[in-house]
Amino acid sequence: MNRRYRKTIIAGNWKMNMVPSQVKGFVEELKPMLPKTRTCDVVLCPPYPLLPAAVKAVKGCRVDVGAQNISEFASGAHTGEVSLSMITDLDARYVILGHSERRADNGETDLLVNAKTLAALGAGLRPIVCVGESEQERERGLTMERIAYQVKSALWSVTPDQLKKVVIAYEPIWAIGTGKTATAAQAQEVCQNIRALLRELYGARAARGVSILYGGSMNAKNAAELLSQPDIDGGLIGGASLKPADFAAIIAATAQE
Ligand code: 13P
Repeated sequence: MNRRYRKTIIAGNWKMNMVPSQVKGFVEELKPMLPKTRTCDVVLCPPYPLLPAAVKAVKGCRVDVGAQNISEFASGAHTGEVSLSMITDLDARYVILGHSERRADNGETDLLVNAKTLAALGAGLRPIVCVGESEQERERGLTMERIAYQVKSALWSVTPDQLKKVVIAYEPIWAIGTGKTATAAQAQEVCQNIRALLRELYGARAARGVSILYGGSMNAKNAAELLSQPDIDGGLIGGASLKPADFAAIIAATAQE
């Protein structure tokens, strides 16, 4: 983390878990466990039908809400899709884009992730753009090429001013939901390289302002070490964001200097 230049963000990706009636209780349990002084921005990203309950439940506490995806289209004949204005009208502030599960399950391409990133920025939402290599790509020494391609594609035609709203999440696919966390050194190396790429694309000043999160089996035990790395500015948490105490413990780990 480097609080001097950028925000620390802990975001919970609930994926396809929980039901609307559980949201209020979750937030009520989380609230008293949040640090008294703000050490990071906290974001909850539940599935769409839970968003209204989440927005209502976090009112008055310093927690933001985000979606897990949006359509690249503004409105109209797109059965089963959810538009940006539906999300912004609810007061959600973030949207996760290009998660590897959407890339794998729904065939989302880098071009589509770029279209969604531009649409989200146009609507004033903060995109959390996910990038990450597969186990095979890592074994074959292709990690940085893969990540650089994903980052460059996602940010195509994103202006320097818009970049200030972008959050990047490095999520190695082999570490998601597997209990196999990247070591702090592995995660730092990739996050540092992402920042170097942003420096090439946007200049040093812009690059140092971008929050880069790590995601992949991050939990109460490994969070402090991951967050102590200079280019890891927070976490995108899956499994461990589903229990208030576990999520709160990760938030607490941002209190370190
Ligand atoms: P886990 O924390 O369950 O590994 O999931 C990480 C993730 O995919 C967050 O988006």
